[in-house]
Amino acid sequence: MLNVHTRLQAWQDRIEAVLDDVLPPASTHPVRLHEAMRYSVLNGGKRMRPLLVYATGDALGIPLEHLDIPAAAIELIHVYSLVHDDLPAMDDDDLRRGKPTCHKAFDEATAILVGDGLQALAFQILALHPRLKASPAQRLRMIEHLGQAAGSRGMVGGQAIDLAAVGKPLSELELENMHIHKTGALIRASVMLAAYSVEAMDALRLQQLDHFAKCIGLAFQVQDDILDVESDTQTLGKTRGADEAAGKPTYPSIIGMAASKAKLQDLYDEALNALASLGDSAKLLREIAEFTVKRIR
Ligand code: IPE
Ligand code: IPE
Ligand code: MG
Ligand code: MG
Ligand code: MG
Repeated sequence: MLNVHTRLQAWQDRIEAVLDDVLPPASTHPVRLHEAMRYSVLNGGKRMRPLLVYATGDALGIPLEHLDIPAAAIELIHVYSLVHDDLPAMDDDDLRRGKPTCHKAFDEATAILVGDGLQALAFQILALHPRLKASPAQRLRMIEHLGQAAGSRGMVGGQAIDLAAVGKPLSELELENMHIHKTGALIRASVMLAAYSVEAMDALRLQQLDHFAKCIGLAFQVQDDILDVESDTQTLGKTRGADEAAGKPTYPSIIGMAASKAKLQDLYDEALNALASLGDSAKLLREIAEFTVKRIR
């Protein structure tokens, strides 16, 4: 059996190829939009959400080829959220994944359309892509969950709360609610879409996986907030200190750095507890949980 890191690397290579395959070729009309979509997706993201889809599938004994399309769909939604998040009307950032943001490399209208196009493509591939071996009922469940996670009661809702909160003193509970929506929802969807590939999923197992996903979803954004303070622009591939400059409510700004790190550790412990009964099959999920809290970018 290959070691954990070799397997994660292989999944990373795999999702790159799947994304390349599902994106429209840059040579096809409208060329500039397709170039901008590919520029925004195929550019060295960490692919944490696709890895989570594969790792959940691994824990449940699902063949990799059944997971490619859910993994790609979630990454497409994630990239759309980043492209829009960076727009001048939102966080107004110039750097993403170590390169000029989409609206800088192209223009604002193109960046809006890139997001729109990626979002539509995500649902299109879940609906009908032949690589996804799932029943119509399973596909519908995935589409429904991803729609909920991406929409106004999920990621987009979290982004609305984030924008409304600039410069305002949020309570810790309000901050947690914002993070659960803007970042947690898509991370949770990564686990749930993989689980929906199983025809008759055990309810208790589903609940354990969901709890794990909720913990690392929140932890992921807590660490994102910490890195905005403690990392550097070169490592992050996005501008360090952007949150403070924009007056964003973050974990370090609201509860302080020491309490933020304690919160991260608590979430990590709780995530691992949720996996306790899965034994060795959850090895890769544990690895991703560790990456979530220890990552430096
Ligand atoms: C950044 O996400 C935005 C958040 C939701 C915190 P990632 O840190 O996963 O960014 P990429 O995909 O690796 O660029
Ligand atoms: C982004 O949160 C969450 C999204 C839905 C994109 P941030 O605004 O903190 O993400 P970064 O730091 O720009 O990647
Ligand atoms: Mg933002
Ligand atoms: Mg941002
Ligand atoms: Mg951030």
